[in-house]
Amino acid sequence: MNVMTSPVAAPVLKDKGLEIILSDGESHYFNFHWLRDNCPSSFSAATRERSFDIFHLDAAPRAKTAEVAGDALELTWEAEDHVTRFPIAWLEAYKVPQRRPDPADLPRKAWYGDHYPDVPRFSQPELLADEALRAKWIEAMLVEGFTILTDMPDSNAGLTETAEMIGQVRPTFFGDYFDVKTHINPTNTAYTASALELHTDTPAEEHAPGVQFLHCRANTVDGGNSLYADGVAVANDFRTRDPEGFKLLSEVPVPFFCEHDHYDMRSRQTIIELDQHGEVSGLTISQHMLDLSDLDQHMLDSWYPAFCRFGKMLQEEKYMMTFLMKAGECMVFDNHRIVHGRAAYTAESGDRYLRGCYTDRAEMRSTYRALVSEGRFKA
Ligand SMILES: [Fe+2]
Repeated sequence: MNVMTSPVAAPVLKDKGLEIILSDGESHYFNFHWLRDNCPSSFSAATRERSFDIFHLDAAPRAKTAEVAGDALELTWEAEDHVTRFPIAWLEAYKVPQRRPDPADLPRKAWYGDHYPDVPRFSQPELLADEALRAKWIEAMLVEGFTILTDMPDSNAGLTETAEMIGQVRPTFFGDYFDVKTHINPTNTAYTASALELHTDTPAEEHAPGVQFLHCRANTVDGGNSLYADGVAVANDFRTRDPEGFKLLSEVPVPFFCEHDHYDMRSRQTIIELDQHGEVSGLTISQHMLDLSDLDQHMLDSWYPAFCRFGKMLQEEKYMMTFLMKAGECMVFDNHRIVHGRAAYTAESGDRYLRGCYTDRAEMRSTYRALVSEGRFKA
């Protein structure tokens, strides 16, 4: 029998879209609005934005003709004198609904209390001088959420130039920078020398700052060990140990507050944050800023014990990384993932000065993508 090789089947025009057979031999449907709006000519190479305005079409776009010419789908349009040439490869990439591939969407690696010797460390002057090294630093931030920078300049400008390698310094409602400072001052012993429990910063903000920088300028006091734990490691284990508790803490938003004479900040957040894949991406937790709960009192019968079980778990030695920060180091960590705290110290024993600021998580991902990928419009 003479089997004829069939030519590429012509696309079939429907009322609101067309069907085309692609490389898997299956027929795939594409909507006319989508095809017209994303016509390669709809974008400006200069602005790298869409210059075509679909709102200005008088009627819904509908293809008049459709044929495969070489490696492109060629369309003419009913109400427009316009030809669209769509690379077939582009249709192949979008035949199944899914997000555009994202180089910043990296799997997270959980870490535990013994992690300190293995924390990724980078020299700040080397980072400033080397773009490829900067990409490695941000990659470590995306994967592990905690890094240490060394050889920091002993200046305010040093912190700013460091943060700006990731993004703009992101103000909070208490300003662009914050200082954690204790001088030898026996008349003021009550001032900030006590222990600070594990928390994420400013949970009462609708969008709490994403990346925290803590630049250690001086640390000669007795005590004052830094405490850090990976919220992803703890929450992943909690998910296995206590599935019902995990469900409550990841699904039920609870109120946080921060109030004083001139501000009254409020938000609702889930304690455990999940990403687009349903994986744990972080935490929002702070006992001293958890607002008076307005949840159903019967629900609290379950929620509070789950919250307490999780809070106790956060403090288990298995997860707690403890060390003393040294002058000239800068801790950089994901404020939505890494909980941090401080052991008590003796204020009279020396100087302890940290200067901190934040940048955004989304901006960190943006910087990373720009460093490691070509993007849609780069030649
Ligand atoms: Fe803090």
